[in-house]
Amino acid sequence: MTEQTLSIIKPDAVERNLENEIKLFFENNNLKIVKSKKVKISKDEACQFYKVHQTKPFYNDLCNYLSSGPIIVMILEGENAVLHNRKLMGATDPKKAEKGTLREKYGISIDKNSVHGSDSVENGKIEINFFFK
Ligand code: CMP
Repeated sequence: MTEQTLSIIKPDAVERNLENEIKLFFENNNLKIVKSKKVKISKDEACQFYKVHQTKPFYNDLCNYLSSGPIIVMILEGENAVLHNRKLMGATDPKKAEKGTLREKYGISIDKNSVHGSDSVENGKIEINFFFK
């Protein structure tokens, strides 16, 4: 089924000019970039975006990190886009990510793991709405 999902190129990857390389990877793997914009969000906005993680010990660092520099937010569309994107990203921790995945190739650490992707169709809708109202 054709789905949409939200993808973010995080500050560590934007800083290293990986935007075009990552976008090409999505397009070459059947995920169409329907919308894309570069934004810099505040810490409050980052905390709002990651609200599902508010009880986790890493929440504060996560909010600081996502708001630390420009990010690229994108709507990706394709067959089973949510799961497909998660497979292309690889495991959250780059050390555990499968070879050839985005996080294995570009991720620096579990925090600076280069990309974010929605974890369900439902959350995808919420996350898309967060950035593209
Ligand atoms: P992301 O997919 O953007 O969703 C939440 C982020 O929290 C995750 O990527 C990681 O970058 C970050 N994070 C930091 N520490 C952890 C942890 N121990 N477990 C899971 N995610 C973590």
